[in-house]
Amino acid sequence: DELELGNYPHYMLKEIYEQPVAVQRTYSGRIGPTHKSANLLDIKITLPPQLNSIVFLACGTSYYASQIGKYIIERETHIPVRCEYASEFLTSARLFNRQDLVIAISQSGETADTREALLIAKRKGIEVAGLVNVVGSQIARIAGQGMYLHCGAEIGVASTKAFACQVAALIIFMLYLKKHLSSIRVSGDITPAHTPLLEPSPSFPSPQPNQPSSSRLFDPPVTKDVNGQPLEESIVRVCSALRDLPVLMQHVLSNTTTMSTIDEIVAFMKDRKSAIFLGRGIGYPVALEGALKMKEISYIHAEGYPAGEVKHGPIALIDEDMPVFFIVSASDSVVLTKIVNNMEEISTRGGKIITVTDCEPTNSDEKVQAQLKRVRSISAYTISVPCSDLCCSPILFTIPLQLIAYRIAVEKGINPDRPRNLAKSVTVE
Ligand code: G6P
Repeated sequence: DELELGNYPHYMLKEIYEQPVAVQRTYSGRIGPTHKSANLLDIKITLPPQLNSIVFLACGTSYYASQIGKYIIERETHIPVRCEYASEFLTSARLFNRQDLVIAISQSGETADTREALLIAKRKGIEVAGLVNVVGSQIARIAGQGMYLHCGAEIGVASTKAFACQVAALIIFMLYLKKHLSSIRVSGDITPAHTPLLEPSPSFPSPQPNQPSSSRLFDPPVTKDVNGQPLEESIVRVCSALRDLPVLMQHVLSNTTTMSTIDEIVAFMKDRKSAIFLGRGIGYPVALEGALKMKEISYIHAEGYPAGEVKHGPIALIDEDMPVFFIVSASDSVVLTKIVNNMEEISTRGGKIITVTDCEPTNSDEKVQAQLKRVRSISAYTISVPCSDLCCSPILFTIPLQLIAYRIAVEKGINPDRPRNLAKSVTVE
């Protein structure tokens, strides 16, 4: 009955509403059913004996999911990650390192650019894997190892539930890396921008000046994560958040306040020619995905941008006719302060702000409360999704953006399942 529309007017809407169940299918059998323990089952991805970096190859929405994966993996494990547009990879002189782990991300498993880029890596003898939805597809077969998303058939051309499941699969992959962090050997000397590498430890070997940095084994064994939380506890924390996620997603989909705010945003947006989507940190790839949905389904020109980059160009476009969507993650306090400044910059130039945030009005932190108050007062429209672990939040943020794009398309008489010039699976390079 997956192929039946049932009471839904379009597959896209059906698939948006299927997301809670789809995400549950992605994690089922991979994390245990109780909140007490992580009970994380190993996935079949062999890591190179010495890891230089993880390289994601993908196109379209899958590429934006890979960017969320990069953010999550680097933040939680400090293993370097590169995201490559498969098409660019094929035509530029981008390099693989023999110690890279190359992972193709694809819903269909048939995207020609992703398949060809993966083949190049495989022929070079590099360890490859796939995160794929369609069982037995070409990319799945070439990869030979990895994870199936199990999100069910996705018929609508614009990817919705596959995106949610890709992010869920990437969270599970991050947990797998975290679980084995003590035995992962990472090449080179890695210095993260903001956070200390690991808990300072007297026996932790620090690189000596004038000596070539070789490999770094996480030795002594890693016991705490980047936030200082014991590793096992932090794995349990994210597993619990994943288990709770379908209920929170359902909450977004059935929230009447959210739906009436979406009605207002649709009425405001439907005759617009352009929009800008901004986010910082994990909100940035969400902004890119929101802009992509707006383009492909609603035919409104939309640009996704890192919020901090706006002052280097796009701010010239801001006037009272320019709607600006902000993705505001309340759980990242560094980002929150900076993005509120960016919102002020847009607001003082007359830009109409539409905010998707996970700020809950009951949040007890006074500083956060003050920022959130400001967010609400400078936003023309605000949609609040429930708070979750930062890793899971992109899935919640994306749902209203999918619904807005869908609803605008319907208002404009566009069939969202068959947008012009687009194909579900692009099998030519
Ligand atoms: C097409 C589809 C997109 C999809 C992209 C990558 O452009 O319209 O929805 O994200 O291909 O597809 P893949 O199957 O490789 O994820």
